[in-house]
Amino acid sequence: MREGMGEMMKEMGKPPRKELYPSLMELPDLPPEKRAEVGQLAHERMEAGTALLSSGLEKLARSTVEEDYAAMQEATAQLRQGLAQFESGLAAHRALAEGNVTRDVALQWFKRNMSLLPVVDVETPHGIFGLSWFHYVTMFILTAFAATMIWMYFHKMQRAEALLMKLAGGPGSGSDEATAAPSSPPLSGRALPVVPVNEPSVSPTPAPVHPAIAPSKSNSWSGPLRVARIFQETPHVKTFRLTDPSGGTVPFTYLPGQFLTFTVAPNGQSVKRSYTIASAPTHRDACEVTVRREEQGVVSRYLHDRVREGALLQVTAPSGKFTFTGQEADSIVLIAGGVGITPFMSVTRYLTDRSWPGDIFLMYGCHRDNEVIFREELEYLQRRYANLHLTITATYADLSTWPYTTGHLTKELLVQSVPEIASRRVHLCGPPPMMDAVKGMLAELGMSAEQIRTETFIGKERPQAPPAVFDGAAPAKLAVVTFARSHKTAVLPPNKTILEASEDVGVNIDYSCRVGTCGTCKVKLLSGAVTMEVEDALDPAEKTQNLILACQAKATGDVAVDA
Ligand SMILES: Cc1cc2nc3c(=O)[nH]c(=O)nc-3n(C[C@H](O)[C@H](O)[C@H](O)COP(=O)(O)OP(=O)(O)OC[C@H]3O[C@@H](n4cnc5c(N)ncnc54)[C@H](O)[C@@H]3O)c2cc1C
Ligand code: FES
Repeated sequence: MREGMGEMMKEMGKPPRKELYPSLMELPDLPPEKRAEVGQLAHERMEAGTALLSSGLEKLARSTVEEDYAAMQEATAQLRQGLAQFESGLAAHRALAEGNVTRDVALQWFKRNMSLLPVVDVETPHGIFGLSWFHYVTMFILTAFAATMIWMYFHKMQRAEALLMKLAGGPGSGSDEATAAPSSPPLSGRALPVVPVNEPSVSPTPAPVHPAIAPSKSNSWSGPLRVARIFQETPHVKTFRLTDPSGGTVPFTYLPGQFLTFTVAPNGQSVKRSYTIASAPTHRDACEVTVRREEQGVVSRYLHDRVREGALLQVTAPSGKFTFTGQEADSIVLIAGGVGITPFMSVTRYLTDRSWPGDIFLMYGCHRDNEVIFREELEYLQRRYANLHLTITATYADLSTWPYTTGHLTKELLVQSVPEIASRRVHLCGPPPMMDAVKGMLAELGMSAEQIRTETFIGKERPQAPPAVFDGAAPAKLAVVTFARSHKTAVLPPNKTILEASEDVGVNIDYSCRVGTCGTCKVKLLSGAVTMEVEDALDPAEKTQNLILACQAKATGDVAVDA
């Protein structure tokens, strides 16, 4: 036997691989319970294929309109993967259904994929020259596809050439693009990926390191990812390793510090939550998120308690501007509290992977000594990379075994751990009280707000206290938000965002991070005025067009939005 049945059964749960199909020929030997199992796996594979196809088509349509060629390529690759996945499930289903002709089905599938023989459908009427219309349509699609690819290749080459001329100081150099581009020569004569302009640099001379991968456009990829492994990091924190269900590399690229948005339905109702990618973008086979279980949290409890290895999760990627690639400054201070370490783990893994020469000061505050996420790996990286300087502190620790400091992060600890801290760039992520305290200390040390980048994870309001009981005074008039396109209105108390009000009345405004950084919830303000605590996702042009972030926008007077 070429491969045992047991092997085949195992393989059915994995992404499609060509060796799987010859093993279909052994199907008649399968006992009934194994056949049912194969049927179930085939069904799952067809479902995953359909999901890949539908999101691939959607992406192709969108990227064609936006003339985003990289996204178009990703979309076509996804369509191919989806079709292969669907076909593999279909072949297995057909084999199960037709029993004796299993060998024919598997053989035909194999021949078609290996291009050994044309597969002739006897029921299809033949066109001229004895070929079926199916052949002509397929040939036309393939020719059009090849022509598009060739055109895209030349177009890309022209753009790369123009960029290289700018880098070399040729005509047109001195533009924003050239300023943002890397300063060292390209390796092996290949065009470098275009590096996006992130934020103003603290250092006048960016370090000569380039991201390995140009990131996909914000939220440009949506589809299922498979939970390949789950690791328990600390008592309340798990890491979920996610892979492409069809077995390829991760179907999007990202910058260190960006996040994924999960759409799950733990209680039958679809909800979204953001989780930072903690792995490094240099690792293309999988990406990882590290999630803290919140005692009463809807999604974090679902991920911890109900999601198992092998499950498919619906993901949108990538998003976020809280990134650091080594281009923005020649050293970096990363200050984390609790699970706020995740963006910095990605940055640290990425910078050390890329042998970035700058100093990385990673300061990490935890509640207890057993809650230091990634402790072993951080200690290993520190031993290995002399430019990684690790400071850990825990509020409570067993002093007989704890080699680090205890207590909160203090101004003294900042100064001791980071020489000349006031002249460096700082990234800060953790619980809001910790972030406020550290921001205050940094200001006292003479740092300007522009040197400090922050991200908060509190994307959803904790349950609100009930409204104050009427005390006899005349009740204040509540503002009203009108959703013009949906012809609906909702009351808008001062502490409620327009996004939350829209959810109250069933108006669909899409969202992702709920903290003002991804831009998914942008809507046009038609009348009235709003305030927004965070508006990182809006550029000046969008502000002049009256775009607002529904997840941040609050108002004390009546407003109307285009939703
Ligand atoms: C950009 C971004 C990146 C993020 N990255 C990460 C990351 O890498 N890792 C990570 O773990 N998280 C991350 N988060 C946070 C994450 O998105 C979720 O907000 C978090 O997991 C909580 O979601 P939940 O559905 O479990 O809790 P929710 O149901 O949204 O509840 C929110 C909070 O309210 C509390 N709560 C809910 N109901 C009650 C109640 N009845 N009484 C008292 N308290 C209650 C919950 O315990 C929880 O603390 C990130 C957020 C953002 C915006
Ligand atoms: S949901 Fe991300 S900015 Fe509003």
